[in-house]
Amino acid sequence: MNKKNGVIFSLLVAAILTGCGSNSQNAGDTHNAQLKEPNEKNGAGVDESKGKGKFTEVKLNTPLDQTMVAMGKSITDVKCVACHKLTDEKLVGPGWKGVTNRRKPEWIMNFVTNTDENLDKDAAAQALLEKCMVRMPNQHLSDEEARSVLEYMFKLDGKS
Ligand code: HEC
Repeated sequence: MNKKNGVIFSLLVAAILTGCGSNSQNAGDTHNAQLKEPNEKNGAGVDESKGKGKFTEVKLNTPLDQTMVAMGKSITDVKCVACHKLTDEKLVGPGWKGVTNRRKPEWIMNFVTNTDENLDKDAAAQALLEKCMVRMPNQHLSDEEARSVLEYMFKLDGKS
């Protein structure tokens, strides 16, 4: 399967089975399998994408930095929950559950701080846009704010 067909295939399957994000309990996993499968064939590897932007290497904290988690939560409550649930359910955008498993930390940082370029040029972001049919507006987070939201996402995904 060539790259274009692979992408179209993945969009079709995802659109038919999950819509934007997922609604059933296990669909988060199914969704991952759908995104991965065609890309394993064409080598593009959605999950391996770091997205477009300046973040090429994001250093992770073990254990998580609880101050950053708290800051990330306040930012999320103000700027993100209008469109994102913390479960695997879709609202306007995909639910966040498992997002740190399906995306590289660099991809999340680049997408959140450089949303427009990624929606224009990054294959994984474009696949989401095709499904959600709404362009996520740039939220104008500073690098530090975006990093704390990422810390919060790790916490939500059960990392410590
Ligand atoms: C107006 C609605 C809206 C707001 C507000 C919003 N988003 Fe989004 N977000 C979306 C949509 C829609 C998508 C799917 C891509 C697209 O269609 O643009 C998305 C996708 C994402 C993704 C990728 C999810 C995945 O499953 O790969 C991340 C990460 C993300 N948003 C983070 C954020 C953060 C962080 C905030 C708050 C600072 C935020 N979003 C605020 C609508 C929104």
